[in-house]
Amino acid sequence: MTLVKLDANGLRNLHPITLEPRPGLNYLVGENASGKTSLLEAIYLLGRARSFRTSQINQLIQFEQPELTVVGKVAPQDQNATLPIGVRVARGKREIHVGGRIAQSSAELLQAFPLLVIQPAGIALLEGAPKLRRHFLDFGVFHHDSRYLDYWRRYTKALNHRNALLRSGKARELAPWNQELTRYGIMIHEARRGYLERLAPFFHEIGGRFFSDPRFELRIHAGWDVTRSLEFVLESDIAADLRYGHTQSGPHKGDFSILLNQRPVKAYVSRGQMKLLVYALLLAQSRLMEEQVGTAGCVLIDDVASELDEPNKRILLELLQGRLTQFFITATGREIIEEGVSDDAAVFQIAEGRITQAQNP
Ligand SMILES: Nc1ncnc2c1ncn2[C@@H]1O[C@H](COP(=O)(O)OP(=O)(O)OP(=O)(O)O)[C@@H](O)[C@H]1O
Ligand SMILES: [Mg+2]
Repeated sequence: MTLVKLDANGLRNLHPITLEPRPGLNYLVGENASGKTSLLEAIYLLGRARSFRTSQINQLIQFEQPELTVVGKVAPQDQNATLPIGVRVARGKREIHVGGRIAQSSAELLQAFPLLVIQPAGIALLEGAPKLRRHFLDFGVFHHDSRYLDYWRRYTKALNHRNALLRSGKARELAPWNQELTRYGIMIHEARRGYLERLAPFFHEIGGRFFSDPRFELRIHAGWDVTRSLEFVLESDIAADLRYGHTQSGPHKGDFSILLNQRPVKAYVSRGQMKLLVYALLLAQSRLMEEQVGTAGCVLIDDVASELDEPNKRILLELLQGRLTQFFITATGREIIEEGVSDDAAVFQIAEGRITQAQNP
């Protein structure tokens, strides 16, 4: 899916804007505080119904304004028909529109406009809590397997029931929930494991461009001791789970790690390398989407130059060329993009919340 048109109103410092981006590379250039990240936030809001900067969605509403709206049209790469999508935020409430009607959940939007973001704080994908890595996996699997959302919803429902019983000390009623958790828990784990396996060749290929001796391994962690069955583990955990008041084993505790030459990267690589690994993971995810789902998505890259040295910057810009994925890339100066700008790229200038110029290089 490609974003062919975006209208944003009342979002951060942006004046009402209309953007008609290219299917390939779109550079957004402007000084500090001009509104580059805000524009990416507008696009992200359109695809995810949330922000990548804050969990307080109200913060996105322009000061003194009652609400914000982002409205867009997305098109599959191989068709001319466009799908209208939109998100309205007012007083902490979101309203999501897909195809001209109000959507029941954000899943419809995620399906309509698959979107990833790479940003300086994104290093948390490797350094931060396992929850972020589970989201990464779940987003990927969601776009590969249409049944996954259902597994995930059923698992979460069973987990909530089991946790409620644990909190009220009703150990005798746990058995059916253990079975339900086992059934869907294994499906979730298998789907995540399979996804990471399919991701690995792309990750190796991209990582291999940044690292000279790339003996990487992507390792999945199920969230329980997989040498035993999940049902057995849930049964054995009951006494401890009753004490904690929640379920300690299952894919809701799942994770993955990256090993470089058999060492966990988290403990050994530099900050710049960590950033490159996050680039490699997310670009691999977008590549996999192109190859296997056939619906290339959109990737937002905020502050492309930050913390990368010249050779790695060049490699990164090369990696973005000739892809089916649509990219939005922000930079403070034109010089960073000059060598990465190809004929079919668009350059947008942003100043004080206005897109003042749209031109080819
Ligand atoms: N709710 C809001 N209403 C109005 N302005 C806001 C709001 N939230 C943030 N701003 C302002 O919007 C401006 C643009 O911020 P933004 O983060 O988009 O800049 P940027 O171009 O990405 O800058 P940098 O290069 O420093 O990353 C800032 O001056 C910020 O203070
Ligand atoms: Mg910014």
